[in-house]
Amino acid sequence: MTATATDIEKAAGVLRAGGLVALPTETVYGLGANAEDPAAVARIFQVKGRPPSHPLIVHIGSAEDLDDWVEEVPATARLLAERFWPGPLTLVLRRGRRVPLEATGGLETVAVRVPGHPVALALLSAFGGGVTAPSANRFGSVSPTTADHVRAELGDAVDFVLDGGPCEVGVESTIVDVTGEMPTILRPGGVTREDVEGVLGRPVTVPSTSGVRVPGQHPSHYAPRARVVLAEPEKVVAEAERAQELGHQVGVLLPPSFAGAAVKAHAVVALPGSMAAYAHALYGLLRELDERGCDLIVASLPVEEGLGLAIGNRLRRAAGPRSSA
Ligand code: TXA
Ligand code: MG
Repeated sequence: MTATATDIEKAAGVLRAGGLVALPTETVYGLGANAEDPAAVARIFQVKGRPPSHPLIVHIGSAEDLDDWVEEVPATARLLAERFWPGPLTLVLRRGRRVPLEATGGLETVAVRVPGHPVALALLSAFGGGVTAPSANRFGSVSPTTADHVRAELGDAVDFVLDGGPCEVGVESTIVDVTGEMPTILRPGGVTREDVEGVLGRPVTVPSTSGVRVPGQHPSHYAPRARVVLAEPEKVVAEAERAQELGHQVGVLLPPSFAGAAVKAHAVVALPGSMAAYAHALYGLLRELDERGCDLIVASLPVEEGLGLAIGNRLRRAAGPRSSA
């Protein structure tokens, strides 16, 4: 099951030959290519159906290699890299010449991270270069957290899939832009805002999230096929039963305090109690409810602190308006 040393050598060879490798990270599975091979990078965009202006993350094997990929490393970046790498943190810095513009969507900045999964680190070490890898899903859909998710979604479009078991964290890395005066969290993720602020000794700005339902605010992303509706924990049951009565096949992500409640809905899953377990399970549950034939998912919004900030962010994005019906 888990990738062997032979698999890792093979995957490194695929990268050298300009191919695509799906690799496990501690957050989600990535769709990797040699960061310095513009044609291979272009194939990532093609396979994902992602607009070419949407920049990718360059994965590197060690914090010591950071200077090779960026123009300069500010003190804040050093601090964060020392504390959180390898781990679910991505730093946005000024692009070094080694990074082709194809990987940054034309930007003069580049996102870099050292992933905290032994298989990813072994691949990076065997390959020796940087690996650009977005999440290994089609653009806009739910990120994969198992090798089976990748195979089901991308199939033959990937040249090699490295299996590293289920991803521990389950939501993507936290992206911190350290190019300006004030460090800014561009995307909340596996490293909490509180931890980033603790290391920097000052507050960081985060994108605003407001209100329980925010249709119309963001186009949908991280989204299952079923429509997603968010509700405060105590309103989940009523919301789900109302939608089921209206004729929907409703899937419910039930808050832990309601576990065992009889809910008149198509599929009911009780959420785990801890935020870490909720994040770990989230994408798999959204996929499962799709597979069980739900056309609408009512999800319980967590308190948006700690890992709850990233979970809430992904749920809001999943609930955003769909570009096509
Ligand atoms: O956990 C993760 O970060 C996973 C694993 C595979 O490492 N990767 C991931 O990649 O989530 P992706 O491509 O799905 O999301 C990367 C995000 C995008 O929202 C992109 O806009 C942002 O990173 N990004 C990349 N380069 C950037 C840059 N130079 N400036 C601002 N944002 C950037
Ligand atoms: Mg993604």
